[in-house]
Amino acid sequence: MSSNWGNHIKLSIFGESHGPSIGMVLDGLPAGEPIDMEQLRAFMDRRRPGKNRMSTPRSETDEPHILSGIYRNHTTGTPLAIEIYNRDTHSSDYAQMDHVARPGHADYTGHLRYCGAQDPRGGGHFSGRLTAPLTAAGGIALQILARRGVSVGAHIASIGPLEDQLFDPVSLSAAILAKPGQKAFPVLDDSAGESMQQLIETCRASQDSVGGVVECGITGFPPGIGSPMFDGLENRFASLLFGIPAVKGLEFGAGFDAARHFGSQMNDPFTIQNSTVQTKTNHHGGILGGISSGMPILFRVAFKPTPSISRQQETVDFQKMESVVLSIRGRHDPCIVPRAVPCVEAAAALALLDAWMEKTK
Ligand SMILES: Cc1cc2nc3c(=O)[nH]c(=O)nc-3n(C[C@H](O)[C@H](O)[C@H](O)COP(=O)(O)O)c2cc1C
Repeated sequence: MSSNWGNHIKLSIFGESHGPSIGMVLDGLPAGEPIDMEQLRAFMDRRRPGKNRMSTPRSETDEPHILSGIYRNHTTGTPLAIEIYNRDTHSSDYAQMDHVARPGHADYTGHLRYCGAQDPRGGGHFSGRLTAPLTAAGGIALQILARRGVSVGAHIASIGPLEDQLFDPVSLSAAILAKPGQKAFPVLDDSAGESMQQLIETCRASQDSVGGVVECGITGFPPGIGSPMFDGLENRFASLLFGIPAVKGLEFGAGFDAARHFGSQMNDPFTIQNSTVQTKTNHHGGILGGISSGMPILFRVAFKPTPSISRQQETVDFQKMESVVLSIRGRHDPCIVPRAVPCVEAAAALALLDAWMEKTK
């Protein structure tokens, strides 16, 4: 089933971009966990559209309405359901999307898969809007993990060719991880961030879009959690991260760069520090054999440029089977990446909590 996930916590996401609401059900959470709704709102607000010229002007409050699973600000342990209303929909912008394929979007493949029965308005269930409930679920998981000493934080590592600094893979702390999320534009180096924002604005003005990379770091996750082969930590991260629309690549630790080196350069020497086994370097990104090593976990996620751009594009009308030139109307992010940063943190938190619960069950 495409929109259900999890071994020990079970997440289900429902809704369409222009339906009455979207939401999620999260089952299997530990009972009695305090949930701070203000903190959850603040986390979800980092993803919310309509806040500045770098995001779609679609204006949504994205208020999470708790339907079940939280009583007196604590998890009950029974299914936790959250509904988020869709308020600002302009469905007429999508009148032709059930037969004209936006290049780079899922209109054509969605039509093939669901035989034309899918909701094309605003991208339907394929929309980036479905990351709002993902972020709600991840925001709950983040609070549960934080109470156990686990910190998750992400930043924009690059936009187009422009790069931010990367996290130090060895000496990473909760304070460093928290910093980018406190900024309107989540980078480590603000001068790089300025140039990135100018590039996004240039793309918006020229009816184009641009992609980028998000780097995510995790500290405090205990060593020895995960599994080999098909249920490893990397697998769990990957299955959630590829659930975020527009994600096209993922690398852990040194990632693809490891393939350009020798074993003598990439192996991380083990050492004893403060009576614990650590590694002197961290090319492995905190995961060996699908299992946490106790070093910071690090990965990078590649986002493609937003497919819906308003400059003219060649495509087809797949009902009439003829070529057409498309000028996309509607409101779109010129760059998905800034709003995707909390989505990546949310996906990471859900993967970690699921793996942790396997160990403690
Ligand atoms: C936060 C977020 C916002 C997005 N906003 C848009 C958008 O405004 N316009 C658009 O065409 N795609 C947007 N997308 C991406 C599309 O939903 C995605 O590219 C499309 O569903 C096809 O899926 P794929 O790129 O994973 O193959 C967004 C994705 C995310 C994560």
